[in-house]
Amino acid sequence: MIKIAKAQLEDLAGIIAIEQDVFDTDSYPPFVVRQLFDISGDYFLVAKEKDKILGYALGGLNTKKQQGWVLSLGVHRDARGKGLGKQLTAQLIELLKAEYAEEIALTVYPDNTSAIKIYKDLGFVGETVLDNYFFDHEERVVMTLKISHQ
Ligand SMILES: CC(C)(COP(=O)(O)OP(=O)(O)OC[C@H]1O[C@@H](n2cnc3c(N)ncnc32)[C@H](O)[C@@H]1OP(=O)(O)O)[C@@H](O)C(=O)NCCC(=O)NCCS
Repeated sequence: MIKIAKAQLEDLAGIIAIEQDVFDTDSYPPFVVRQLFDISGDYFLVAKEKDKILGYALGGLNTKKQQGWVLSLGVHRDARGKGLGKQLTAQLIELLKAEYAEEIALTVYPDNTSAIKIYKDLGFVGETVLDNYFFDHEERVVMTLKISHQ
């Protein structure tokens, strides 16, 4: 059975393996993943089957702005198309909502059809395209989700 849970220290090796496979030279170096775990542990989710890591979602919260972020999302190639990417993102949104985030933001490459489908399905909107967000002269779409706490 596949479970979604908060990432534990022992999950990081599996998370880093997926991160490096899917993002290649753009992946976070392992020391950054470790430090993000230390500061964003509450918003670091994994999908796992027994001890095998199938995917992860990493978020963050700017408490001053009450703005949450979806910082990274990755699903192992063999585990795609089963709804894990959407479930991980949906659960991350719930965690950020519970901390009274008023908006959740993310950026995505404009040609990333499957990720954009997930974000739109979950209510993210936005067409703002930034030319050089990661200083790599690649376009990046900014999407946001407004949260109502009524
Ligand atoms: C994006 C990613 C996380 C999606 O993971 P996943 O577990 O396969 O996603 P899901 O199974 O939840 O699929 C989400 C939706 O996208 C759809 N989809 C999948 N591939 C698609 C494609 N190439 N074109 C259009 N839609 C697609 C699915 O049908 C599904 O829609 P549905 O809910 O209506 O059935 C995964 O492909 C991945 O790790 N990609 C590389 C890393 C990445 O791009 N991360 C996002 C960075 S912003």
